[in-house]
Amino acid sequence: MQPKVSVILTSYNKPKTVGRAIESVLKQTYDNWELFIMDDHSNDQTQQIIKKYLEDPRIQFYDSMVRDEDRYKSTRYATLINEALAKATGDYITYLTDDNLYFPDRLQIMASYLNNHPTHGVVYSQQLIRRMDEKGKTVDEKVRGTKGILTKPQNLVDHCSIMHRASLLPLIYGKYGSYWEDSPEHWHNGDAAFWARLTEWSSFYPIPKTLDICLKTPDSFQELNAFLPKELPPGLLVVSTSGEMFLIDGKKRRKIEKAAFRLFHYNHNRLVKVHDPLLFQYPMGNPITVHSFSNASEFPNFRFLKVEKKYYYTEGGFLRPIETKEAFTRMNADIRDCIFVQSSFIKNFSIGKPISTSYDQKKPMPEGKLFVYKQRFFISDQGIFRPIEKQVFVRLKYNKTDAIPLSKREFLAFPKGSPFNWEVVKWR
Ligand code: TYD
Ligand code: MG
Repeated sequence: MQPKVSVILTSYNKPKTVGRAIESVLKQTYDNWELFIMDDHSNDQTQQIIKKYLEDPRIQFYDSMVRDEDRYKSTRYATLINEALAKATGDYITYLTDDNLYFPDRLQIMASYLNNHPTHGVVYSQQLIRRMDEKGKTVDEKVRGTKGILTKPQNLVDHCSIMHRASLLPLIYGKYGSYWEDSPEHWHNGDAAFWARLTEWSSFYPIPKTLDICLKTPDSFQELNAFLPKELPPGLLVVSTSGEMFLIDGKKRRKIEKAAFRLFHYNHNRLVKVHDPLLFQYPMGNPITVHSFSNASEFPNFRFLKVEKKYYYTEGGFLRPIETKEAFTRMNADIRDCIFVQSSFIKNFSIGKPISTSYDQKKPMPEGKLFVYKQRFFISDQGIFRPIEKQVFVRLKYNKTDAIPLSKREFLAFPKGSPFNWEVVKWR
């Protein structure tokens, strides 16, 4: 009897490729396998595609039913893999993602390698990396080659390119109390965290043949995660992978209706694409619709209003009068940024602290703006200056020309908060 291979496929909202990933398992030249399709509560479009394959008795389907707001709390694919590993009955374990395709002989070649080398615990192979654009067109292709026997495979081997013995799992569990490490700080490179565990029992042995294709799309987690901070600054305009637009306002995500986008003078060039785990940790706030225009309590913050000759800025649910034209210009605002309203409209708002040409505790700087002091950039967030790292600044589409220069006195007048920076656990 051939040894059995457990294939663990993780999936989340990749309707264009998940079907092909599943089919690449069905087309294997090796017969004795079971497939766990571990879906992280994808949209209907994705689940409908998966459901076409579930008649096959070798396939088991699992829907995590994760709540949106819990998505960022663990490295989700590692959590799903752990769930599958608890049920896996194979002698050998191998991994697949919804944007990867196995070559038909992958299981055959890897399983026979392990059969022939009883002392080797893990094998890995070459991978073809196909980078694609938004439309699914190939931009470039390269092969990630094998690099001999590896004792430190971190960042050198993708988890879709390995197979390991199931017998290593109880050893890992015995030492660590889990199989894959799924704490959220490893999301960017969760496989590396597992490699650190696996290599305590076996090196990674190479098979210098290309056995899988990794499809790198602009919406892949790693692509989107690059230079994103853990927290999004107030006033940021974001777009989700499914194309919905949001304003980060009052630590909530407020969905901006398409028809309201222009009405509130938002700019498409400022939309920043982020991944769902980051976006969904913000609870859903009131949507911004055409009706928000006539309802002061739903009017979005961080907007300029012009009423007759006076300028205002919406902040924290208040209307802050901008004292002079110079104060308005200092905010790098332009008449085109202003929403023109009738004086009767502003009666519905409570009036907040004025914004002056210089900022102090009595007349603090406006919130959700970019400032610069001695070539360092800061975002104002609830009366605090929070530093923003260069690459994060670029990733979030801030422009240097938007930055409001601060005097020393102004800079010293307000406390400094935690930075908006990009942190990933690095593996050597
Ligand atoms: P993917 O977007 O392909 O990221 P990468 O850039 O690392 O290739 O996501 C990797 C896997 O994680 C994929 O199989 C789907 C899974 N996943 C979840 O299970 N839940 C989620 O919320 C996300 C974003 C991804
Ligand atoms: Mg991927």
